[in-house]
Amino acid sequence: MTAPPPQAGARPTPAILGVGAALPSQLITNADLVARLDTSDEWIVRRTGIRERRHLLAGETLAALAASACTAAVNDSGGNAADIDHLLIATITPDRLTPGLAPAVAARIGATRAGVIDINAACCGFLYGLDQAAALIESGRARRVLVCGAEALSRITDHTDRATAVLFGDGAGAVVVGPGAGRGIGSFVFGYDDALADTLYAERETPRLRMAGQQVYRHAVARMTEAAQEVLARNGVAPDEVDYFVAHQANARIVTAVADALGVPHEKVSFNVEWTANTSAASIPLALAAADHDGHLAPGSLVGMVAFGAGFVWAAGLTSWKDNPTPTIRSS
Ligand code: ACO
Repeated sequence: MTAPPPQAGARPTPAILGVGAALPSQLITNADLVARLDTSDEWIVRRTGIRERRHLLAGETLAALAASACTAAVNDSGGNAADIDHLLIATITPDRLTPGLAPAVAARIGATRAGVIDINAACCGFLYGLDQAAALIESGRARRVLVCGAEALSRITDHTDRATAVLFGDGAGAVVVGPGAGRGIGSFVFGYDDALADTLYAERETPRLRMAGQQVYRHAVARMTEAAQEVLARNGVAPDEVDYFVAHQANARIVTAVADALGVPHEKVSFNVEWTANTSAASIPLALAAADHDGHLAPGSLVGMVAFGAGFVWAAGLTSWKDNPTPTIRSS
């Protein structure tokens, strides 16, 4: 399936056409962590909402995991990897320092003519990718853009530090963006504060995540609430018009605090962190795939998304879900 060239003067509406996810096979439960750290299932669940996470095995690659998520998203869209114009992969944990992850993933899925680029914006990377994809579609420069968030955070976690070892997991999620119908992908909001960079970071020399948890927590709640409010206002949407809300899955308490500040009822909110832990750039597409699979998203559902992470950086966006794309798409 290939979209027709945009007509002169007509701006295509960018839309999410398909979604996919992949998690490593190795399951790490809270009980597994209790066996080797001074922690408890009760503490982890009460303070974070996390019950389990997945870790890549030694020898497994993030490229292969991301490729599974991307292939699933392309199949879900009813399209073909060979039609992908750009593959944007958000990650802070590529398999190698260089080259990036995107060329390896494109080759694995058969996206033979795609532009390939990695985005490093920590937990906000997927939303940056989605905004870029929407702009490419809207401008007519591309007809199919694959946006993936993929992380192997287990490789930069200090597994001896109970304060962070329980928080992070590996995973990959992806969406296909193309011309669609309905409200499509709306305006985004972005922000950053470099003055607080030292509260959440990993150094090149000792690549382990270090975090001042309480400071990160406070700023995450405040900045995500403000960004979500701003994105709703910018798109002319009231909180009760949002059908489903996906905040970066760092901690269930953070997600709850943001949802409460916005006045979004919890049944409309993703708590996928329970099954994945914090997967940074992968967390929002993983949560979208889970919500789609679990029947929380219908075609045309309005989905609010907000993220916060190392930088600090924050981002918020709004999209309608798999709005019927058939009026603007025909077989090539
Ligand atoms: N098990 C048992 N006790 C623990 C554990 C653990 N795993 N970890 C810490 N504790 C202890 C601490 O040592 C402390 O003990 P003390 O009172 O005797 O000193 C006590 O629990 C409380 O510690 P706090 O750090 O104050 O706990 P808090 O309630 O703040 O929860 C947490 C910690 C979960 C890390 C929280 O601060 C948080 O979620 N922060 C934000 C994380 C986040 O959002 N990261 C986002 C981005 S990640 C990215 O961009 C890649």
